[in-house]
Amino acid sequence: MTNTNNNHLRRQLGNSALAVSPVALGTWPMAGVTSLDINDDDSLATLRACAELGINFIDTAYCYGPNGESENLIRRALAESRDQFLLASKCGIHYNAEGNQTGDARPETILSECDESLQRMGTDRIDLYYLHSPDPKVPVAESAGAIRDLIVSGKVRYAGASNCSLEQIQEFHAVCPLTAVQLPYNMLQRDIEQQTVPWCRKENVAVIVYWALMKGLLAGRLNSLDQLAENDSRRKYPMYQGEEWEKNQAFIAQLQKIASECGKTVAQVVVNWTIHQPGITVALCGAKRPWQLEETAAAMQWQLTTDQLQTIDTAIAARGKAAAKRVFR
Ligand SMILES: NC(=O)c1ccc[n+]([C@@H]2O[C@H](COP(=O)([O-])OP(=O)(O)OC[C@H]3O[C@@H](n4cnc5c(N)ncnc54)[C@H](OP(=O)(O)O)[C@@H]3O)[C@@H](O)[C@H]2O)c1
Repeated sequence: MTNTNNNHLRRQLGNSALAVSPVALGTWPMAGVTSLDINDDDSLATLRACAELGINFIDTAYCYGPNGESENLIRRALAESRDQFLLASKCGIHYNAEGNQTGDARPETILSECDESLQRMGTDRIDLYYLHSPDPKVPVAESAGAIRDLIVSGKVRYAGASNCSLEQIQEFHAVCPLTAVQLPYNMLQRDIEQQTVPWCRKENVAVIVYWALMKGLLAGRLNSLDQLAENDSRRKYPMYQGEEWEKNQAFIAQLQKIASECGKTVAQVVVNWTIHQPGITVALCGAKRPWQLEETAAAMQWQLTTDQLQTIDTAIAARGKAAAKRVFR
């Protein structure tokens, strides 16, 4: 373990006893489902880079890879250093026989998925365990009850809910007090500021956000769709298409000016902005190579000035809200 004292890089996670880095590693890319050109050596090196970069919080899920590829990589990378990290995983979505993700958040499924995740990650407890997404066939309260039971049995330390509306979050919280929620959020997709973030602040529930980088678009290095392989699934997302793509490129050009002024990269400006928004506790940053995480982790080490934030606000307003597949308020 590095001797670096990272206390200044820690935030309390909701009302829990966990102190987490405001930038956490998202391990969806290394599951190899949508991100191309992955390999075990780079994925393991990315996970092992966390400690040196000041990151102590790692996000995965039962369904990150048809056979738990991401959770298995975590075991392989962190076998000797498990106790230095806080591991978050999710339940309630799996791959079916046809190879498609499907929801099943029945209590019995949650209990068995948790056992499997513990085994894959080589650990005796999951620090934060989320319902990945509500299952329309199962009341949220029932799924929440299963996670509450896992906390009682000691397999899980704290509960989270992801991809839930505010009403679903409240339903969950009434059965099993939540430590964190996980929702999409970035400079151009800020709907959760309306209702969910204020409620979480009031209840001291942490808000952990995904897609701060808009799946790589806001990292500032994608300036032509030709950079994406024909089979790169990002081409299907509205933000990578037509007029949305053009508007995003113009917006990134504005961010580039601010980044150059600060001597930072676009990705660092974007992540720094995200982790300093009121009520946002953690930005999950996906990575499959150490250099990517090195860049985004460095966003924890400084702060945009009031003037720079003002310039960003102006650029965001000029760009307007980006299209999203699904909106969480
Ligand atoms: N709860 C949920 O339903 C849910 C949904 C989505 C995500 N998540 C979580 O949130 C995490 C973040 O989401 P995400 O990984 O999908 O997207 P993201 O963090 O917005 O973007 C990740 C992608 O950005 C690119 N990237 C990262 N650092 C970069 C850098 N420094 N320079 C240039 N490009 C860079 C990489 O693209 P390349 O692959 O092209 O290198 C990487 O795959 C996930 O990994 C997962 O843990 C949760």
